Amino acid sequence: MNTLLLLLACTGLALAGPGAVLEAQQAVGQTANVDVSVTRGKPDHLASGWIYGIPDNFPNQIPRSWYTDVGFRWGKGGGAQLGAVGQRGWVVSLNDYKGRFASTLANYKTCRALGADFHIYVHDLWGTDHAGGEGGKWPGDNNDFSDYDRFVKQLMADVAANMDPAHVTWDIWNEPDIQPYFWVRSAQQWVNLYVRTHKMIRANRALDAMKISGPAIGFAPGPNNAYWTTWLPQAVGNNTIPDYYTLHLLGGPGDINYDPEYTNVSLARLLKTYGAPQRQVFINEYAAAAEMVPSGYVWWISRLERYDTPGMLANWLSGTQLHDLFGGLLTKRSNPADYAATDYAPAGGYPVYKYYGTNMTGLRVNTTGSADRWLDVYSTVGSDKVRILAGVRVHTGTYAVTVRGLSAVGYASGSVDVTAYSFDGTSTTAIAGNPTSRGKTSYSIANDTITITVRQTEAHTAWAYEFDVKKH
Ligand SMILES: *[C@@H]1O[C@H](CO)[C@@H](O)[C@H](O)[C@H]1NC(C)=O
Ligand SMILES: *[C@@H]1O[C@H](CO)[C@@H](O)[C@H](O)[C@H]1NC(C)=O
Ligand SMILES: *[C@@H]1O[C@H](CO)[C@@H](O)[C@H](O)[C@H]1NC(C)=O
Ligand SMILES: *[C@@H]1O[C@H](CO)[C@@H](O)[C@H](O)[C@H]1NC(C)=O
Ligand SMILES: *[C@@H]1O[C@H](CO)[C@@H](O)[C@H](O)[C@H]1NC(C)=O
Repeated sequence: MNTLLLLLACTGLALAGPGAVLEAQQAVGQTANVDVSVTRGKPDHLASGWIYGIPDNFPNQIPRSWYTDVGFRWGKGGGAQLGAVGQRGWVVSLNDYKGRFASTLANYKTCRALGADFHIYVHDLWGTDHAGGEGGKWPGDNNDFSDYDRFVKQLMADVAANMDPAHVTWDIWNEPDIQPYFWVRSAQQWVNLYVRTHKMIRANRALDAMKISGPAIGFAPGPNNAYWTTWLPQAVGNNTIPDYYTLHLLGGPGDINYDPEYTNVSLARLLKTYGAPQRQVFINEYAAAAEMVPSGYVWWISRLERYDTPGMLANWLSGTQLHDLFGGLLTKRSNPADYAATDYAPAGGYPVYKYYGTNMTGLRVNTTGSADRWLDVYSTVGSDKVRILAGVRVHTGTYAVTVRGLSAVGYASGSVDVTAYSFDGTSTTAIAGNPTSRGKTSYSIANDTITITVRQTEAHTAWAYEFDVKKH
């Protein structure tokens, strides 16, 4: 979801969840845990990706270090919202498809030059934003897929000729349930499209190495979501299960249905009900606009890392800013709406992703989020320091982080001196500084554990805690 209109569509997400906010449970369960004695492999920066957000030329004006410092892993594009003649998508003309493919290819090249994989928003190349709504032209209308089939063949040929399929994922169709923006026909007509596309791609040997993703349904998976329950059995029945199950988790702070802790279970149940195989889950749009502040970003990083789930930040900007600014991690000193300006500066989230992508070295360690679901933590143990990111999901209160297993990093007894840093950025437009040092606090060890207090007085603040690994 990426337009102002979609902001409206998304309001429906929050309303649809059963009593999303968890105020009543605040009195208990406000502690997250880090166990430094249990390692979970090297950091892979699973959360370091965003949809769109990259200028439409290659090479482009954003210096390489802005990408590499955040450990950029995956990008996604398709030419959304381009409106000029020659850039409006297949539904308008072959020439308009070519304009959108040029944008897609430029974004692909940027990603590959950085070692990142690229995902294609195929509905953008079709041009849903120029399809004419209900009275317009949609794949499979009157049971006729011939024009759509020509489109798929054209795009398959262009991918094969211009991209390395081993680093491309074809996202079959975006948010068929977010109507009227991305689809205006029945769920079954979309499932027909899904099944036929999967079969066409897998019949094309040139694209054997390319991954397919879906269903990219906007609402969370569950037994009462008719899009999921229509799609999944037919995908199983036709042997057209995608390589990635894609979810969009955009419900916002406190919405428990748009939380990997919930969807990990709800999706597993659905898969079981329909006899569907396990696949890697990819949350290819994460975080509501209200979560685009340090505390929200850290909560998402922590959740995605816990479930070993790659993710791409959603993008709530529009116009040229949609094709610039890393989905709101970057802003500009003069005017972020000036596409040509190159005075890039970090917005609120950038220092968080930079710390995650650059400082957090070593091995990931095991964590649990708070039982009330507001606080979550991500932690690594390097050769020099233990580092912990802590984020209360855009919320205030007094929270705690326990750090267990301290003997594994050289502490037998006594105390641990922990330096705290705050990430104080406030938005996707205001320029953010480096994390602020909040000084050192000495915590006494009891039972191999210390307990750090998190006083979350401003909902947007996120925290880093660091202490030395003791040499033996
Ligand atoms: C395969 O998909 C089609 C829709 O394209 C559907 O009509 C059919 O029932 C599915 N087959 C099975 C066995 O699920
Ligand atoms: C649930 O999370 C585990 C990792 O904790 C992962 O292996 C599994 O694929 C996830 N399943 C779903 C359906 O999200
Ligand atoms: C992160 O690493 C950089 C580069 O080594 C260093 O300058 C900076 O102080 C570190 N940040 C924190 C909060 O430790
Ligand atoms: C790791 O954390 C998970 C919760 O995220 C917990 O269920 C599991 O028991 C922990 N494993 C170890 C070995 O501590
Ligand atoms: C000590 O820590 C262990 C492991 O973290 C835990 O199971 C146990 O309950 C703790 N004991 C006390 C007295 O807190």
